[in-house]
Amino acid sequence: MRNFEYYTPTQILFGKDTHLQAGSLLKKYGAKKVLIHYGGQSAVRSGLIDEITSNLKEEGLEYITLGGVIPNPLLSKVREGIELCQKEHVDFILAVGGGSVIDSSKAIGYGVANPNNDVWDFCLKKAVPTGCLPIGVILTIAASGSEMSSSSVITNEETKEKRGCAKTDYCRPKFAILNPRLTYTLPQYQTESGCVDILMHTMERYFVNIETMEITDSISEALMQTVIYNARILMKEPDNYSARAEIMWAGSLSHNGLTGCGTGGGDWACHQLEHELGGVYNVTHGAGLAAIWGSWARYVYEVNPERFAQFATNVFDIPCGTDYKETALAGIEAMENFFRSVKMPTSLHELGLDLTDQQIHDLAFKCSFEDTRTIGVFKQLNMRDMEKIYLMAR
Ligand code: NZQ
Ligand code: ZN
Repeated sequence: MRNFEYYTPTQILFGKDTHLQAGSLLKKYGAKKVLIHYGGQSAVRSGLIDEITSNLKEEGLEYITLGGVIPNPLLSKVREGIELCQKEHVDFILAVGGGSVIDSSKAIGYGVANPNNDVWDFCLKKAVPTGCLPIGVILTIAASGSEMSSSSVITNEETKEKRGCAKTDYCRPKFAILNPRLTYTLPQYQTESGCVDILMHTMERYFVNIETMEITDSISEALMQTVIYNARILMKEPDNYSARAEIMWAGSLSHNGLTGCGTGGGDWACHQLEHELGGVYNVTHGAGLAAIWGSWARYVYEVNPERFAQFATNVFDIPCGTDYKETALAGIEAMENFFRSVKMPTSLHELGLDLTDQQIHDLAFKCSFEDTRTIGVFKQLNMRDMEKIYLMAR
């Protein structure tokens, strides 16, 4: 096992009506003037934004609002937010939404706290931020884990590049309010895409080619089983509080570092492959991951079939014989069958993309940063490997 650091400073408030404590939490963390940042229309339509603004008024907090964040959040909105925060002297950002809103908030926070840098340079790794405006979260979709993570992902609509925007502890939210009831209004496709993303945050850390810790493996396997079980319940019962709650907490735990303790950081090839799809074709992140994962798994499993066999046995109860490869393949198939059972795609075609050879080549070229980097650690993948995986996923 590898040495590790586990740092999870975000205060979590979990349960019914917890969003009504937003004002008091903001005051606790010293907020004076708050930017309430949100997405398209869902939080307005549900009345959540009204509830929050009333709550902040009651607490005597000043606030301004900025909506319009779209999935795969855009750099132009980030720039608009930075300008607004500077003009209005905002000292705290309250993200009301999912990964896209939280990530947009983090990037705005970086921009405001580092006025001498261009925020996109943080995504291109040309500069490193030295601070971030404090951020609080009211989560409305369980998926990205951004409410406890140190990362954010932004899309530059001009270059069609989707890139991680600095990975630092500065942007970790001070608090995150997780009220499972706020996720009842999610369309089924978003709920299930979120479940895939949660699984993937665990699997990216699980499929590593080193000796891992039994306790981390057990936590990860239990988390995956819990998500699979409850994702199926939510197909029929979107208002099932306990299923929503299990998924919501799993979402945060799967991306706050817990499932990576001792695994050396994880693989992340599928996320890199998916981010290109998101940047170029604006696909839903979790669905994009589902479309890619099976092809990635079949491409790499022979490096360590025993690891995949452990996954098959401990997550899907598939008996492990002496042939690890057979068990490994049965586990990959079981996960794909799960994706199908929750109406998630298992190919690019099912994701709605019918790509030409040239388009696939272009994706691999972009994902490899023009053939200058490799991705993945379970098996290191160069541009040609990436192209083969996209082709297998077609
Ligand atoms: O914009 P609105 O109208 O709010 O609609 C949203 C959006 O269309 C809708 N939605 C959210 N809550 C809802 C709701 N609709 C009805 N009722 C509700 N309660 O859901 C749609 C998707 O929202 P989004 O925020 O995009 O979803 P998600 O949380 O999956 O975030 C995806 C983004 O997070 C990034 C992804 O790449 C993607 O850009 N990620 C961020 C990570 C991080 N910062 O640590 C890690 C992840 O791996 C991921 O890459
Ligand atoms: Zn993800």
